[in-house]
Amino acid sequence: MLVNPFLITGYYSPDYFCDREKELNLLKKNIGGKNNTTLISPRRLGKSGLILRLFDDLKKEGNYSTLYVDIFATRNIEDFIKAITDSILKEFPEHTSVGRKFWNFIKGIRPIIRFDQISGLPQVEITYQNEAEKTETLRSLWQFLENQDKPVVIAIDEFQQIREYPQSNMEAILRTEIQHLHNVVCIFSGSKRNMMIDIFSNTKKPFYNSTSFLNLEKIDRKVYADFINFHFLSNNYTISKDDIFYILEFTEGFTYHTQKICNKLYENRKPDIVKDDILLVINELLNENNIQYAQIKELLTTAQWNYLIAIAKGGKIQQPTAQEFIMKYKIGTPANSRRLLKALIDKDLILENLNTKWKDYQLYDVFLKHWLIRNY
Ligand SMILES: Nc1ncnc2c1ncn2[C@@H]1O[C@H](COP(=O)(O)OP(=O)(O)OP(=O)(O)O)[C@@H](O)[C@H]1O
Ligand SMILES: [Mg+2]
Repeated sequence: MLVNPFLITGYYSPDYFCDREKELNLLKKNIGGKNNTTLISPRRLGKSGLILRLFDDLKKEGNYSTLYVDIFATRNIEDFIKAITDSILKEFPEHTSVGRKFWNFIKGIRPIIRFDQISGLPQVEITYQNEAEKTETLRSLWQFLENQDKPVVIAIDEFQQIREYPQSNMEAILRTEIQHLHNVVCIFSGSKRNMMIDIFSNTKKPFYNSTSFLNLEKIDRKVYADFINFHFLSNNYTISKDDIFYILEFTEGFTYHTQKICNKLYENRKPDIVKDDILLVINELLNENNIQYAQIKELLTTAQWNYLIAIAKGGKIQQPTAQEFIMKYKIGTPANSRRLLKALIDKDLILENLNTKWKDYQLYDVFLKHWLIRNY
């Protein structure tokens, strides 16, 4: 039993996960058809959660093995290999039949095996003589997965990270391996939209046209409101529909921020929730981030900081080079505006929303947005 039904990290069970039925079905259809998927969304909307939710179903159904690999902290192909081996070892402990086979396989590549002192989990360290050996090890890892009795679904989260590797041919290496697999289906997930699009739909790049795209959007407001209402109600809290919609309005439907507010309201242990409670919680959350936000200011130039405030106050900006916006916030010239915008997008402080018809720009973090509006 969970202490708080509103999760702010990870995944627990379908009961505490809101909706995403359409996306789940699509992922399952892709997997059934052996199609690889590229999963994209802005940060904190629920990509990782969706993958874990999917894997929960796949495990229960029993037809696939699942592997979740987060490569956010990897810096090169060695780290990439390590991330995959660690996750195989975690998913298939030594006493399972796959685990036994994997250990035999691993021993064949002469690793150093250590056991983490705290978690007790094995940590594999592989030494390589040269670059070719790394590629070879990676190939044999894919082959190992390919040779399992059960098909394997592997999700590589934060996939755009491979663009940071010094090996410039990482995409080509991966693509060459992956295209020959029949027993392994991949989900590539990432939040850096431009990079992900460039990896998977640039005609000049190895992964071009090799996956189906899934753009994860915000959870439908009404469905999310019902979810929030249900969890408060079933724990003997009361909250009005209007107040729930106020929360969703404030967070603009961003999953993490919505979960965070609801989680804190729940922690208050005051069962009759009214608007003032919500305002208080929001105030606390903004204050909690005082130091972190002040630090952002330190990392920016004055012009960038002022620009961030302008976008916060302006809400969703469709025309950042229009005279009206530039005059109102004293930005200078359209060229200035473009340059500042690009710098702040690159720093993940401004989010570019793309649509078939229009583009607009907003603060990436809605809590930072409200903090800026409040303080400046
Ligand atoms: N459908 C959902 N219902 C309830 N909570 C969810 C749902 N999806 C995600 N969450 C919660 O929202 C938060 C953010 O989700 P998650 O970490 O999956 O986002 P993400 O897109 O992977 O973000 P990032 O790009 O930063 O890795 C987590 O605390 C998660 O538990
Ligand atoms: Mg994630």
